[in-house]
Amino acid sequence: MPTLKALGHACFTLSSQEHSIIFDPWLAENPEAVVTPEEVEVDAILASHGHSDHLGDAIAIAKRLEVPIIAPYELAMYCERFGCQTAPMHIGGGAEFDFGYVKLTQAFHGSAVITDDLIEYTGPPCGFLVTMDEATVYYAADTGLFSDMELIGEINDLAGAILPIGDNFTMGPDDALIAAGMLDADVVIPMHYSAFDVIQQDPEAFAMRLDEIGIECVVLRPGQEMEI
Ligand code: NI
Ligand code: MN
Repeated sequence: MPTLKALGHACFTLSSQEHSIIFDPWLAENPEAVVTPEEVEVDAILASHGHSDHLGDAIAIAKRLEVPIIAPYELAMYCERFGCQTAPMHIGGGAEFDFGYVKLTQAFHGSAVITDDLIEYTGPPCGFLVTMDEATVYYAADTGLFSDMELIGEINDLAGAILPIGDNFTMGPDDALIAAGMLDADVVIPMHYSAFDVIQQDPEAFAMRLDEIGIECVVLRPGQEMEI
């Protein structure tokens, strides 16, 4: 069973005995982060979209460790400009890596790198299905609710689903509850609910609502981990 560890906001590591990956490593500027980018030791970085609270320190970590950024093609090409390795993929496509299998899912959101005087679009955003040690985890990334989550749940026996609940930029708790019902994962882990004023949510209240409909939910605070 791999170990899922929350590092704050939408950043998680998934680790087996031998390998470790990180999702959306926003760390240096993240007030909740429990590690610095320099402390991260992983085999690959999975970047769902270009927004700063997700792409975060991906490029710096990829360059330091000489490991690839796995991302939608356009975002991968953006990252390559800074001299890092990438594994460009796209929605619906899967690939085997040393650590396991990755498949990209759709996500309903935006994807751009935004600086003071430029908004550079980086293709569509994605979610990730990662299979490691025979456990498949769905990392929805930033997305609104979509009914194909039912299909994702149907064709994958999900050990876990990591879902945003913050509202405003992504699903809020009401829609994440519906998503959880469709995905039918063994456990739901909420994310993206406290880093900004407009996404404040109570994950424990969300967990109680899931419990009422018979779905297990584990709230992982930054630094906490679980076997999945
Ligand atoms: Ni975003
Ligand atoms: Mn976000």
